[in-house]
Amino acid sequence: MIVLSFGGKAPRVAESALVADSACLIGDVEIGDNTSIWPGVVIRGDAAPIRVGNNCHIEENTVLHGLVTIGDNTMIGHNCVVEGNVGHNTLIGNGASVLVEAKVGNLCIVAANAVVLENMNIPPRSFVAGVPGRIRGELTQHNIEMMEFYMPYYIGLVEEYKRQGIWRR
Ligand SMILES: CC(C)(COP(=O)(O)OP(=O)(O)OC[C@H]1O[C@@H](n2cnc3c(N)ncnc32)[C@H](O)[C@@H]1OP(=O)(O)O)[C@@H](O)C(=O)NCCC(=O)NCCS
Repeated sequence: MIVLSFGGKAPRVAESALVADSACLIGDVEIGDNTSIWPGVVIRGDAAPIRVGNNCHIEENTVLHGLVTIGDNTMIGHNCVVEGNVGHNTLIGNGASVLVEAKVGNLCIVAANAVVLENMNIPPRSFVAGVPGRIRGELTQHNIEMMEFYMPYYIGLVEEYKRQGIWRR
């Protein structure tokens, strides 16, 4: 992984995290236990602190910048931009954006390619889709089952990458 200090602050990464060689972490960044950071992810803590919780999965080419917190057990798909806050047990779909000072609550789904606008506050258990992002309703049982499928799948995948010594630090 590419780890660079900025303004005297260096990224702190839990021993148990899996971070791809090509991921780039800059400045005031904290990565929690068993979190995975996939190739091409950029987490740039030069403007404000960025905190990523435990058991999160941040997929390829996603960018985190600004004052960002990501709760535990949250999954951020491929090619996302996150500049706001995301709660626990939430899925941010591929290509979605969460703009500055937006807040996405716990147990939410932001659909692929949606844009959560600046300062928007998404309550827990919401399903958001579209550009601009609109709350389409509460999560359904089907949505919850989909999330319950993704998380163990990723936990197993991360374990397998570690077992094979891929991106060992
Ligand atoms: C949102 C999602 C989970 C589908 O959930 P679902 O409950 O099965 O949703 P449905 O397909 O029944 O669609 C519900 C409504 O949302 C709309 N919708 C679903 N996904 C949408 C999207 N990405 N953008 C805009 N609208 C969307 C549907 O058109 C439908 O609209 P309607 O009620 O007017 O007919 C899926 O489309 C998605 O975006 N998944 C993200 C997967 C991902 O990125 N994973 C990352 C890890 S690999």
